[in-house]
Amino acid sequence: MMQEVIKIKGGRTLKGEVEISGAKNSSVAIIPASLMATDTVKLEGLPKISDVETLVSLLEDLNISTQLEDTHLTVDPSQIKNAVLPNHKVESLRASYYMMGALLGRFKKCVIGLPGGCPLGPRPIDQHIKGFKALGAEVDESDGRTMKLEAKQLKGANIYLDIVSVGATINIMLAASLAKGQTVIENAAKEPEVVDVANFLNSMGAKITGAGTSTIKINGVESLHGTTHTIIPDRIEAGTYMCIAAASGERIKIHNIIPKHVEPLTVKLKELGVDIELGDDFMIVSARDNYHSVDIKTLVYPGFATDLQQPVTPLLFLADGPSFVTDTIYPERFRHVKELQNMNGAIDSDRGTATIKPSKLQGADVYASDLRAGACLIVAGLIAKDVTTIFNVRHIYRGYTDIVQTLKRLGADIWTEKVEV
Ligand code: EPU
Repeated sequence: MMQEVIKIKGGRTLKGEVEISGAKNSSVAIIPASLMATDTVKLEGLPKISDVETLVSLLEDLNISTQLEDTHLTVDPSQIKNAVLPNHKVESLRASYYMMGALLGRFKKCVIGLPGGCPLGPRPIDQHIKGFKALGAEVDESDGRTMKLEAKQLKGANIYLDIVSVGATINIMLAASLAKGQTVIENAAKEPEVVDVANFLNSMGAKITGAGTSTIKINGVESLHGTTHTIIPDRIEAGTYMCIAAASGERIKIHNIIPKHVEPLTVKLKELGVDIELGDDFMIVSARDNYHSVDIKTLVYPGFATDLQQPVTPLLFLADGPSFVTDTIYPERFRHVKELQNMNGAIDSDRGTATIKPSKLQGADVYASDLRAGACLIVAGLIAKDVTTIFNVRHIYRGYTDIVQTLKRLGADIWTEKVEV
């Protein structure tokens, strides 16, 4: 079978400007949420990634008319039909679970396959289910492949999340927007993407307050109308380019960035010794010759994002001593470790913590196990000696707009090839 791979010859200095796309993790919730409107929704600033295409295609399976052009999407759900959603598309990404909240809100009923997504260790959806049940839904997953949700009536409820979950917070907001009465989510996720989704829903006529804090109140409304919404900038894509610039950049200017959203990374990169100039909506990042070791612990927002833990790791090989990276959100999100070892990296992981020691990376054949592991291997390839070949790049295309072309424009020696596997 032929497979596309990304090849990088490391060691080049990158220069120039990068424009950050709209946030993947907002888009993947807002596209499903648009099916809750009675008339046309226009979305602007979407990232050009395969997860967006998959979700648009799922909307079409519900007889929704869509038009995706570049970064704009028009959704007309006026002829929507509540169909059973096919498994293979649903299984290709995690965010298909937002179809549950959206369809439950709109039809009080849905049948959908279980969500897939990156293999980061256990990723249960018990808090989503707990929320749907609290709103009055009966949940049947007895066949082990599909989830059937049905409510005679959706009724507002007080829901305390046992775990701070982005997905559960958003999914409950979706369904509760069209429930009767008030829902209060306690211990809610505070991520900027939660706020973006709440702003989107409010622009369709929902009544949500408190998004961005740990208590969100939703007063249910009868119906939601069409709207136009621009997606916020992707803080993880921005953070990835900050890491790329810190690895091999000379004054890389990153546009369309909200500095506040990437502050935990900015602080760590400065501790490391990276040169960063902050603007209102841009940042200029340059690599330095001497880096100091730092320790990183991922936490829920506003802590250090788990999604940036992998992309930042290769920089730690350039430091003057050992660094430690602990992932408290996904303690098994360390599949990149083996690949970095193959590149001559002195790295090990044990019980949710990686230890990284100064090393000179060497190009090798490596495998992207998931989206952010793929981003990590790109950063590693840019600093490694000789050629690095990255396999399984479809994971990378799920979340990064035109990354190969962008890096080429910045001066990287990077290209794709089709190889027999
Ligand atoms: N969790 C549960 N039960 C639940 C839900 C979550 O135990 O019902 C646990 C998870 O296993 C995890 C923690 O709670 O340990 C946090 O999970 P969360 O629900 O917040 O994650 P998610 O909503 O499934 C989103 C992003 C991820 C990102 C996490 C954490 C989307 C589509 N995905 O996932 O993004 O890592 O939040 O910030 O929004 C990525 O972009 O590469 C990515 C994986």
